[in-house]
Amino acid sequence: MKIVRTTAEIRVLVADARRKNLSVGLVPTMGALHDGHLSHVRRAREENGLVVVSIFVNPLQFGPSEDLDAYPRDEAGDTRLLAGEGADLVFAPATEEVHPHDRATTVTVGGLSEVLEGARRPGHFDGVCTVVAKLLNIVAPDRVYFGQKDAQQVAVLGRMVQDLGFPVEMVVGPIVRESNGLAMSSRNAYLSSEERKRATALFKALQAGSPFAAAGDFAGASNEMLRVLRSATGVEPDYATAVDADSFGPPEPGGRILLVVAARVGPARLIDNLLVEVENT
Ligand code: PAJ
Repeated sequence: MKIVRTTAEIRVLVADARRKNLSVGLVPTMGALHDGHLSHVRRAREENGLVVVSIFVNPLQFGPSEDLDAYPRDEAGDTRLLAGEGADLVFAPATEEVHPHDRATTVTVGGLSEVLEGARRPGHFDGVCTVVAKLLNIVAPDRVYFGQKDAQQVAVLGRMVQDLGFPVEMVVGPIVRESNGLAMSSRNAYLSSEERKRATALFKALQAGSPFAAAGDFAGASNEMLRVLRSATGVEPDYATAVDADSFGPPEPGGRILLVVAARVGPARLIDNLLVEVENT
């Protein structure tokens, strides 16, 4: 496994692999890797001849009052884990290599980027889209791997890939959870062991809301999720609602229904979601 810092070098190494007819899989991450990230690396390893994992804490997707400086960083630990999974290249560039000071271009996906996470975190999805577009152009993978954990990110990036015609297959993997149901997240590192227990309220709320949503009672689902979150000690709910999994607008007949929650637990703002199995009537 090789650690690569520059765009020029990654392009050369990917071109070498292509000459050998290897397919290329890219797993974009911000590091502080856990089993959720590694699930995508494993799948990429199964499906591609060359596996590239990017580690880049992207400043564009953090708001001015967010946790960019505190965001956990552990490159040595991450590279050990990635070597264990058989990744080929780790692309870990400096900020300036990806976003030069005179950058004048931003990628915006309209509509979808403005609700829920987008409304609470203005500019967040523009930052995500701009860096992912750039990574796709630098690495030019056949497949790119994302997690359903960040469901709105998946929907936004899916639109970007479709609207701008990126020649890449997007592969979306399921949410990896701790045994107590807590969705794995790099931000769980901010939590004490007591707070981690409290944070299981997010998944409990989703599970409690699910039968309501499956029966078509979306207001009931939202109320039930908020009730569960409010009854948990030390958990401050932000939103809990049912949306159409693709548009993130109101649930649509025949569409996929997704329950989404966001809450603050101690120092961390956490999100989680659950796809609803709709009952056949
Ligand atoms: P990061 O939060 O590091 O996550 C990298 C990838 O791992 C994302 O696709 C995310 O959805 C996925 N992931 C995180 N937790 C997961 C879990 N518990 N189960 C399954 N997958 C999980 O998301 C980002 O970085 C950034 O926005 C990025 C796409 C890299 C752009 O900067």
